Amino acid sequence: TIDPVSKICCIGAGYVGGPTMAMIAHKCPHIDVKVVDINADRIAQWNSDRLPIYEPGLDEIVHSSRGKNLTFTTEIDQAIRAADMVFISVNTPTKTFGVGAGRAANLEFVEKCARRIAEVSEGHKIVVEKSTLPVRTAEAVKRILSNTANNATFDVLSNPEFLAEGTAIEDLLEPDRVLIGGERPESIEALVDIYANWVPRARLLTTNLWSSELSKLTANAFLAQRVSSINAISALCEATGADVDEVAAAIGTDSRIGPKFLKASVGFGGSCFQKDILNLVYLCEYFGLPEVAAYWEQVVRMNDHQKQRFVTRMVRTMFNTVSDKKIGIWGFAFKKDTNDTRESASIYVCRDLLLEKARLCIYDPQVSEHQILNDLEYVFTEGDNKISEAKRELIEQHVTFASSAQEASSDAHAIAILTEWDEFADADFEAIYSTMKKPAFVFDGRNRLKDLGLKAKGFEYHGIGF
Ligand code: UDX
Ligand code: UDX
Ligand code: ADP
Repeated sequence: TIDPVSKICCIGAGYVGGPTMAMIAHKCPHIDVKVVDINADRIAQWNSDRLPIYEPGLDEIVHSSRGKNLTFTTEIDQAIRAADMVFISVNTPTKTFGVGAGRAANLEFVEKCARRIAEVSEGHKIVVEKSTLPVRTAEAVKRILSNTANNATFDVLSNPEFLAEGTAIEDLLEPDRVLIGGERPESIEALVDIYANWVPRARLLTTNLWSSELSKLTANAFLAQRVSSINAISALCEATGADVDEVAAAIGTDSRIGPKFLKASVGFGGSCFQKDILNLVYLCEYFGLPEVAAYWEQVVRMNDHQKQRFVTRMVRTMFNTVSDKKIGIWGFAFKKDTNDTRESASIYVCRDLLLEKARLCIYDPQVSEHQILNDLEYVFTEGDNKISEAKRELIEQHVTFASSAQEASSDAHAIAILTEWDEFADADFEAIYSTMKKPAFVFDGRNRLKDLGLKAKGFEYHGIGF
């Protein structure tokens, strides 16, 4: 039998590890939770008044436990050694080099964690995969853990996280389900007991390891597929005179389809959808299932097409040229209520507008200028991971920043809404209109301003899918 868990260590203080551990500490005052990371800056931010990630409700949860049973530290080995249960919650980005480049998950960081755990542990520990991983990664983790220095023993569990950014705290408080995959019932039960402190037992699903790993990839693939499906229909709506929001509402009433995740947009972003689908595609190819791989790959292609289509429509509508025209960019995060920009549609829309030589004035309420410049420089890097002088100049001469949506639009030929921040609906559109060049174009990649009567206020308003 296994004693109840009293000490947890989580390796990786990111968008997943940070909020998840804060919630466990908040709901389980009897458990000591240590979150560790190799990035000392990030740990310092978790210990400061300005947390490294913006997430509604997170500050309160962190403050309720930090300094009591929740610690953020860079002392990784000590925390691992002391813990009964170790979560691995490090990043697993798409590989950019070597075998499987552009598709397979880069498991370098996960493997390093497993090796560290094997090296410093004593006694028995439960190791929990929290990061999204390809199916059968647990097998690799188990093998690495079997080569230990101090005769330590391990059980490996898969416990994928389903929280969405922007609603992480709500999702953690009331998850639709918590999924725990494993082999030994006692170790599964140890993790079930932790979640049972606040999640009804009926929502704690237990499966074998591989089902758990595959369910995470499948859930994200299905969600992304819904967005690509409605975005595909949005193109047809624009061509035919149908309205995609009306179509989405109509089909969403079918209980077999359901109303959620049918919002047409400039394209999905975030650290998970594209990465997980590409990973699924890679796995299918690896297991000799090319037709299955092609089916899922189309979801990502459709998403790329949607982003390109948005820019093409802007350029065509603005008399086939945006060169030297100021465009106000509203929003850079991949969705509202987060400061995360990973794979944000904004990055690609801005890139393509810059290639058209437009002048961009960017405003996002939570994303820093530093982050935006990093993202733009990265998207222009070439094979050798370097940005050319010409591209750097393009950015320097064509990108400025504003501290409000209104300021970003002043004297602009057009506004592009790329994130659905609530505050955009409260802008003073009369004032904005008066300072813009005419026709005053608005391209709404989120249909956020659709019901605000912008046409009546003089704007030439274009949304997605109508
Ligand atoms: C997603 C999953 O929802 C979550 O369960 C998983 O744990 C991680 O991946 P996240 O990427 O944080 O979460 O946000 P999500 O709300 O899923 O949005 C992803 C992208 O899809 C965003 O760019 C969003 O704007 C877009 N989207 C979502 C749409 O364009 N239309 C929709 O109807 C829904
Ligand atoms: C369908 C639509 O459901 C209905 O709304 C529309 O008006 C007509 O087309 P129908 O073709 O009669 O109805 O039956 P449906 O229950 O949708 O099943 C269609 C096929 O899908 C069947 O062969 C069924 O066996 C299969 N199916 C359905 C699955 O293989 N798996 C499922 O989960 C559901
Ligand atoms: P996610 O969205 O999956 O949480 P993030 O990139 O936000 O991903 O967070 C992952 C964190 O894991 C980063 O802060 C990174 O520094 C940390 N990390 C990566 N590798 C290691 C490692 N070997 N040891 C400790 N922390 C690590």
